[in-house]
Amino acid sequence: MKFFIDTANLDEIREAHSLGLVDGVTTNPSLCAKVGIKTDKQFEDLIRQICELVQAPVSAEVTAVDEAGMLAEARRYAKITDCVAVKIPMTPDGLKATRKLADEGIKVNVTLIFQPLQALLAAKAGAAYVSPFIGRLDDISQRGMECVEQIVTIFENYGFDTEIIVASIRNPVHVLEGALAGADIATVPYGVIMQLIKHPLTDIGLKKFLEDWERTRKS
Ligand code: E4P
Repeated sequence: MKFFIDTANLDEIREAHSLGLVDGVTTNPSLCAKVGIKTDKQFEDLIRQICELVQAPVSAEVTAVDEAGMLAEARRYAKITDCVAVKIPMTPDGLKATRKLADEGIKVNVTLIFQPLQALLAAKAGAAYVSPFIGRLDDISQRGMECVEQIVTIFENYGFDTEIIVASIRNPVHVLEGALAGADIATVPYGVIMQLIKHPLTDIGLKKFLEDWERTRKS
């Protein structure tokens, strides 16, 4: 399973990268707003810096909602570096834009997917990635991982190459269940990456090893 980090924060990306846990990065307008991005130039500079740092796929989301606007933004972002995958929302205009961009060789991550048939349509349109939002489904009392499981089955049934990104991850169990379901990628917030590393028995075990070692050396 590949791990993407779901953030626009360069410090978080740098730290997770140093842990060897960044196979790619996903951003969205909310995450960019959180780090104070205000202009198109700032956004493009940020995407460029992330790409230079990770040398791996980086999702940059369009904010236009019409096909022509999405295409213009997507083509601009795709020129930043080869690492850029353009994030396009799952709408009728988004599907049209996805088809055209895929035909031009631009990688598209179709985002805001909440049911498996949306993923099927995105794959048919040539998307490189689909992003089902698990946490937001759980938030409304619907089992988000079921959507991932069904997408995995559909893509296997028809041999789609489109990669499934488990998105809107809130906790380690989402990563575990995504891996068990056979999703290609989990895009994980920095805090959850750190939770994946930790276990209280690891801390207790390490403390005991060091105490025993010290006691022996003093005796
Ligand atoms: C990633 O591609 C998504 O934009 C992100 O995971 C959404 O997460 P959220 O539901 O926590 O905002």
